[in-house]
Order: sequence, then C-alpha cells, then structure tokens
Amino acid sequence: MIRIDNLSVHFGSAVAVQNVSLSVESGESFGLVGESGSGKSTVLRTVMGLNRQWTGDIHIGDIDLRKGRRRDLVRVAQMVFQDPYASLHPRYTIGQAIAEPMLINRMSDVDARTAELLEMIGLTAAHRFRFPHELSGGQRQRVAIARALSLSPKVLLLDEPTSALDVSVQAEILNLLNRLRRELNLTFVIVSHDLAVISYMCDRLMVMQNARAVETLTRAQLRAGDMQHDYTRTLFRASHRDRAGAGASAEAVRHG
Ligand SMILES: Nc1ncnc2c1ncn2[C@@H]1O[C@H](COP(=O)(O)OP(=O)(O)OP(=O)(O)O)[C@@H](O)[C@H]1O
Ligand SMILES: [Mg+2]
Repeated sequence: MIRIDNLSVHFGSAVAVQNVSLSVESGESFGLVGESGSGKSTVLRTVMGLNRQWTGDIHIGDIDLRKGRRRDLVRVAQMVFQDPYASLHPRYTIGQAIAEPMLINRMSDVDARTAELLEMIGLTAAHRFRFPHELSGGQRQRVAIARALSLSPKVLLLDEPTSALDVSVQAEILNLLNRLRRELNLTFVIVSHDLAVISYMCDRLMVMQNARAVETLTRAQLRAGDMQHDYTRTLFRASHRDRAGAGASAEAVRHG
C-alpha cells in the first residue's frame, strides 16, 4: 500500500529525512518512533504531499507521488494530527467539519454520509450541530478521525493521535482506531513517542534517529526486547521507565 524508497527531505540546507525506505502492506499497521526532531512527522507530511523539497520515490496505492495529483492522493490517504483542537475550524459545526472534504470533492449524499460517519466514531446526531469547543478532547479527536475517513481513504497517517489526550481517553481512541482499521480494512502509519502505544497498535515499527532509519522491528521483537541497535534499546528502556505515565494508557487498554 505504501512504498518509500530512499526518501530524503531538505529544509533549506538542513536535512530532516535522509535515505529512509520503508514499505507497508495493505491492512498493516506500521509505527514510527524516535526522539523529537528525528524526522517522523516530516515522513508523514511528505507522503501527504505537504513538502516540496524531497528526493527518492513514494508510491501510495497505485499513485506515484511524483506524478499523481493531490486530488487523487486525498482519496487514498488522510492524516490525523496530534491536536484536534488546532485541526478543526472553530466556527464550523461538527457536521460541517465532517462534510467539508466531501463537499469540496463534490460527493453526493453528503448528509447521509455525515450521519453515518458520526455513528461510526461513536457520536450521535445531537453532536452534529455543536462546535468543537463544546466537545471533550476525546470527542474532538473522534471528529477529526471521522473527517479523515469522509472520503473513504485506504490509508490513515496518524501523527501522535492520542498524546494530547488524558490517559483514560487515549485508550478509547486507540480502541476506536483498531476497530475502524478492522472494519474498513485500513492501513495505518502511526507516529508515537510511546512504545507501549506502538506495541499495542502496530504490527511492525521503524526507529528513527537524526533523520535516518535505525532499524525495523516486528511487534514480537519489540516485546521480546530483541533489537539490533543500542539506540533502540535505550529508547525501549526509557519507555519502560515512563510506564507509570503516558505508557499506562496502553496497559489500560490491555487490561480493560
Ligand atoms: N517546515 C519546516 N521548516 C524547516 N524545518 C523543519 C520543518 N519541519 C520540520 N523541520 C525540521 O526537520 C526536523 C525533523 O522534524 P520533524 O517534525 O519531522 O520531527 P519529529 O520526529 O516529528 O519530532 P517530534 O517528535 O518532536 O514531533 C527538525 O529538525 C525540524 O526542526
Ligand atoms: Mg512530529
């Protein structure tokens, strides 16, 4: 579903991503981890066509990003950001926020589809006419997910989708995402600082450091601590230490 070969991304003279390659199967959930500034968001944003200066090859579905039009791309892949408050227009109702991509793309039956999407993410018709500030953080992230799903994409690129949320709410959103992936046969790429979240959500993961890929692991390798590089081991140990904090959400999911 996604194939990235030798991707490099520059911002002026700075290199944000250097020679990164990865591929993700249809229906797979793939994680990206690594310290702040290592290039994780830049990979996602480049796949979404949001960066201009890049070299290498990116294929997503049957679109070659060098040649494909943005209009085709948004029907295949959509991004969900960390902060739903920033990604939702404050003066649009929830219904308008969900309907907007469909209206822009001249889809029919937008009303019925909006109602269907609201139900799919666990909100009701009563939420449809509310504004973002009238919802909880978790509800807002549900709306951002519904909006991302409105054009029926095959791929969701999720950039720290739960790190702005309360621990208890994080678990709800992660479970919602897992259910949607199953039901809609979606492919995920998930960026997270939290290895417990990655281990819960992802079949495989890639570790990044200083713009480069360090190594790729399966979930089983991650859980067994079976890694090749010291950097990954350090990251793994730091994440274990943090378990009482953010990582507890994935524990909550596992046990409840
Ligand atoms: N639009 C931009 N203009 C200039 N530099 C940028 C831009 N976007 C990212 N960078 C730089 O590229 C590097 C990688 O940033 P990126 O946002 O991809 O990191 P990240 O791994 O997502 O970090 P974090 O975990 O903090 O979100 C950083 O050095 C960052 O400052
Ligand atoms: Mg980032």
